[in-house]
Amino acid sequence: MASSDPWGKTDQMEDAVLDGMVTRLEARGKYGPFMKMLDEYLGAMEIDGKQEVLDMGCGTGIVARTIAARSGFSGKVLGIDLSPYLVKAAARLAGEENLSQRVAFEPGDTRSLELADGRFDAVVAHTLLSHLDDPFSVLKDIARVVKSGGVVGIFDGDYGSRSYAQEDLEKMKRDNEIVNSAVVASPYVMRLMPRYLRRAGLELTACFPYVLAEVGQADYWGSAIESNRSLLPEAGAMTKEQADIWADELLGSSQDGVFFGACNFYAYVATKP
Ligand SMILES: C[S@@+](CC[C@H](N)C(=O)[O-])C[C@H]1O[C@@H](n2cnc3c(N)ncnc32)[C@H](O)[C@@H]1O
Repeated sequence: MASSDPWGKTDQMEDAVLDGMVTRLEARGKYGPFMKMLDEYLGAMEIDGKQEVLDMGCGTGIVARTIAARSGFSGKVLGIDLSPYLVKAAARLAGEENLSQRVAFEPGDTRSLELADGRFDAVVAHTLLSHLDDPFSVLKDIARVVKSGGVVGIFDGDYGSRSYAQEDLEKMKRDNEIVNSAVVASPYVMRLMPRYLRRAGLELTACFPYVLAEVGQADYWGSAIESNRSLLPEAGAMTKEQADIWADELLGSSQDGVFFGACNFYAYVATKP
């Protein structure tokens, strides 16, 4: 059965929903601990020495723009995303940051890419695979388009571990389960990644485990909760009223300084022999 995950249907969303996605992706991409995770695995990929880089599921181009802006990078990044609206936003933001010489963005579906075999020195998929119903088939395609000796970086949440605290424990368990399955098509994909990488013919060379936990105030999780306030009804997982009650309770606990929210994240770096 196809997932309800709105991030996997960004070619069908209303502009108002997509505007909310732009806000969320940009807020997340500028959040210090998140930038640090990105920087760490890009370093392990030795991205500065790569000439042709692909950013699969680029969204607003946070990763493509970050790579292009690195002082040691002299190559080119191509960002591909399902949503023409997000691709347009990515190109505009790259222009505003004077990065247009180094990045290009194109609409495209990672499930049917027509890119040549072995075209790229490096491929990055940053929180893409968890939003796909069949992440392994896209990983195989990533392995196809990277050249022999090239490198792949897969970063994602282990969203099955994402948990927000609510006073009513039964409601907390129910709501966490709803949120993690409704807005993420493959919430456990990062646990299967070591075997998927091997099956796709890639060799795992580094893994970076992280926990993104906030206690007291929801700086990072606040914009995720705000975004899910509209995505949960969009996914058909909650009514608008239920989503408002859920979001208001969590954001209220942040205002009171008693918020708790956490999720594990992993970055895998693998090479193609
Ligand atoms: C959570 S966002 C991550 C965006 C970006 N990589 C970042 O980290 O800021 C997931 C992205 O995957 C894109 N996406 C989902 N399914 C896709 C597909 N089949 N082909 C291309 N992009 C897809 C969505 O449009 C969305 O921009």
